[in-house]
Amino acid sequence: MNNLPDFPWDRLVPYKERAAAHPDGIVDLSVGTPVDSVPPLVRAALIEAADSPGYPLTHGTTALREAASGWLARRHGVRVDQRDVLPLIGSKEFVAWLPTYLGAQRVVFPELAYPTYDVGARLAGAHGTAADGLLALGPEPVDLVWVNSPGNPTGKVLPAEHLRKVVAWARERGAVVASDECYIELGWEEKPVSILHPDVCEGSHEGLLAVHSLSKRSNLAGYRAGFVTGDPALIGRLLEMRKHAGMLMPQPVQAAMAAAFADDDHADAQRERYAARRAVLRPALEKAGWRVDHSTAGLYLWATNGEPAWEQVGRLSENGILVAPGEFYGSAGERHVRIAITATDERIDAAVRRLQ
Ligand SMILES: Cc1ncc(COP(=O)(O)O)c(C=O)c1O
Repeated sequence: MNNLPDFPWDRLVPYKERAAAHPDGIVDLSVGTPVDSVPPLVRAALIEAADSPGYPLTHGTTALREAASGWLARRHGVRVDQRDVLPLIGSKEFVAWLPTYLGAQRVVFPELAYPTYDVGARLAGAHGTAADGLLALGPEPVDLVWVNSPGNPTGKVLPAEHLRKVVAWARERGAVVASDECYIELGWEEKPVSILHPDVCEGSHEGLLAVHSLSKRSNLAGYRAGFVTGDPALIGRLLEMRKHAGMLMPQPVQAAMAAAFADDDHADAQRERYAARRAVLRPALEKAGWRVDHSTAGLYLWATNGEPAWEQVGRLSENGILVAPGEFYGSAGERHVRIAITATDERIDAAVRRLQ
């Protein structure tokens, strides 16, 4: 079986080498991996649970599930029963396998999107369609619609009104809506809303799944910690399949995740770090001739100077700055670059100096 796309990051390697040759070193704003420390209270919880000889539960501990549902209620006005929380070994594995779990034949995802939605459709042998407007899809059945707000790569926020229409459209057709909300705590100019918020779903979670991650909120990309929640019947089916497939989150990570969701202070501090980096990088890019589109939330600046994406990547790499070409995320990105705000303050300052 190989209907998978080439791994796009390999094509960035020559630009990475060029950027690394800068006398003051590379500023890598391409991948968007967290660089700040794991919060001490999360590390303490991990260590405390280090002696975990037995198998963990696929469904996770009650403490983990209660912490996750408590966070959703406290921070996002979403009420879910703790039994409807299902731990994920990072959200990426779930994005990649959801179409397979659902037996989906047709999957729809945004035109500019995180590539794993497409990969998931391919792994399931399903037909993947990149489309923002559902009306253009025609009468063929659809099994799964992905939405992603705030979005990667554009940083665009989908308003409640838009999400309501997606939910209504999908419910009419019996399609599942999976909402990837891994950047939900990182709204800058707009407040992102969950698909499970009563303003969107009118109190019923039927046919809806919300996918969350601690990678960005709590710098836990290295722990692999996320969860999915929503429609109790769907969660029940997913739990059964994941039990059979051995998708077990390690017990110490479960303990770390419970501690992270029970605490907001560290997440607020991390948010402030990103806000400060964004506040200096964005005007520096604009002064240097880039226009920033969308990007009202999330961890990326979606920028263009009008040139083809790879020329922009090349130009910035001459200055020791590595960014991702927009076409990694869909052909509509062929004149944009995605610039992550996930470098240290020192590296962001270096980028700002180089752009002057
Ligand atoms: C839109 C989106 N979804 C999911 C993920 C996967 O995150 P993780 O597997 O770390 O939870 C990412 C990672 O950057 C992403 O950008």
